[in-house]
Amino acid sequence: CGIVGYIGPRRSTDVLLDGLSKLEYRGYDSAGIALAGPGGEIQVVKAEGRLSVLAEKVHAMPPVDSHCGIGHTRWATHGAPSDVNSHPHSSARISLVHNGIIENYAQLKEHLMEHGYEFCSDTDTEVLVKLLDYNYHGEPLDAIMKTMGEVRGSYGLAILFRDFPDRIFSVRKESPLIVGYGQGENFLASDIPALLKYTREYSILDEGEIAVVSREKVQIYNELGHPVQKNRLTASWDIEAAEKGGYPHFMLKEIHEQPTALRATIGPHVEDGLPQLGVDALTDEMLCGIRNIHIVACGTAMHAGMVGKTAIERFARVPVDVDIASEFRYRDPILSQDDLVIIISQSGETLDTLAALKLAKERGAKTLAVVNVVGSSIARAADWVIYTHAGPEIAVASTKAYSVQLAVMYLFALRLSLAKKTQPEEEIRRLTAELQRIPDQLAPLLSNCNEIKYLASQFMNSDDLFFMGRGFDYALSLEGSLKLKEISYVHSEAYAAGELKHGTISLIVNGTPVVALATQKNVYEKALSNVKEVKTRGGRVILLCKENAPVPEDVADFVVRLPEFEDIFMPMLMIVPLQLFAYYMSVLRGCDVDKPRNLAKSVTVE
Ligand code: G6P
Repeated sequence: CGIVGYIGPRRSTDVLLDGLSKLEYRGYDSAGIALAGPGGEIQVVKAEGRLSVLAEKVHAMPPVDSHCGIGHTRWATHGAPSDVNSHPHSSARISLVHNGIIENYAQLKEHLMEHGYEFCSDTDTEVLVKLLDYNYHGEPLDAIMKTMGEVRGSYGLAILFRDFPDRIFSVRKESPLIVGYGQGENFLASDIPALLKYTREYSILDEGEIAVVSREKVQIYNELGHPVQKNRLTASWDIEAAEKGGYPHFMLKEIHEQPTALRATIGPHVEDGLPQLGVDALTDEMLCGIRNIHIVACGTAMHAGMVGKTAIERFARVPVDVDIASEFRYRDPILSQDDLVIIISQSGETLDTLAALKLAKERGAKTLAVVNVVGSSIARAADWVIYTHAGPEIAVASTKAYSVQLAVMYLFALRLSLAKKTQPEEEIRRLTAELQRIPDQLAPLLSNCNEIKYLASQFMNSDDLFFMGRGFDYALSLEGSLKLKEISYVHSEAYAAGELKHGTISLIVNGTPVVALATQKNVYEKALSNVKEVKTRGGRVILLCKENAPVPEDVADFVVRLPEFEDIFMPMLMIVPLQLFAYYMSVLRGCDVDKPRNLAKSVTVE
């Protein structure tokens, strides 16, 4: 979910709707705003569906004279998407918006009902606002602190009290919130893009901190109510980076930004032709002491980890496990101080990933975060952090963030190999130089849109599609398949090519579409045999292979040629056609590319 707050001379409806439009990728089941009028009255407008439904509703109303308000875009957890379950939620004296989940809401609700409170929604958030009301005796800070002591769970809150029409109150626990500083106006948001049009100066609220935001001032208190001084940060992202810039969708823009993002990420990590991590503590000695590596992440970031595993094991000969964060947390992982846990996350806020990081630390492992959003919760909680430089990624389906995560995985693998002397220095220099050449290799792939668009037109009416590959190609199959499922709603499965015959091949019938990835020389012939197995059973095959790879007749219906390049780096090239394929399938099927149904960009609930 996304949160915004504004106080200042502008009309609050304008700033709130604009801010929410920049956060819509965080959830779009419903949206709402609460506007404080000069006399203390609070007007709430909310609507199920996309932000545009709310905007229409607001524009159809007589203009509201409000210069202080809060807004929310929701990704449903408790309570189905509906007008009544949308935020803000209110009591007679308070309105608030909430990101996160209140775990003990059922007990609290019972308690409040005994005290005469009535409920009109199914949400945990309504319980929160009524509890706050119950605890409120004229002093907002006291009420907030008391309520924080009584609720369990995670929350980022923006709150309006009717008695204080010139202030927004805010508090966070495990859910990100930032305050933005303007001239005679101030802002609140769950994410930087909502602020960029107005200011680049901001502070991040820490765990348990409470912000009181007025026109002239932002005062922050710790959970005991003592004032604290915050560092001000300046966002390096600019407003253009958070807008479409002539592309029909953010996803297409972000696919095309990959060469720039890769240069920005790789450049600072090469010194005198050798990889360096930019983390002082990760000395040769420290790196040599690592016995096991665990890569933990969710979604696309986890797929980047799978490529990382193969690269690290191949270059540096250190065993690597890859875990889905929500599984890692509950499988009682075996960790020691010689283990390094690498946490990968674009947003740096994914709750399961953050919890996995905390568990790893508790169990004494060393933790390294690979994160895109500077100052995010994961970046701050890890022992060390390597930032990717993708810039803001707005489309829900991750593209450029994945590519830069791969780049960091390779840099790490090479650096570890250098420390462990598992490869000659000259070879590491050569591979590092190759890695630096990758951004240039992407140009022909990006300009190859028409070929991929044509392929999508051939497969757009498919109900099921299979991806297959071995090794790196298998890791890429998983990501290609996920991209397709996420945004085009075509059912798809990714299979290790050699495993297909142990079950899934029964699903291949005449005309079943299969995307076969075969870029790795050591298993190329085996991969082709697997493709033939599929072809023989009627599969309609798109084969992705290198420019000069021999392709016997009758193996594939369509062949997509990729530039000749070092095998181990092929994932970084191959991802482009896979992303474009998913993109055009989504466009041709009339789906909402940037905001696929039921998904959210950043999932801050368990
Ligand atoms: C969500 C997004 C995915 C993303 C995953 C992990 O599910 O829809 O695109 O890969 O979260 O996000 P993170 O920010 O931790 O990389």
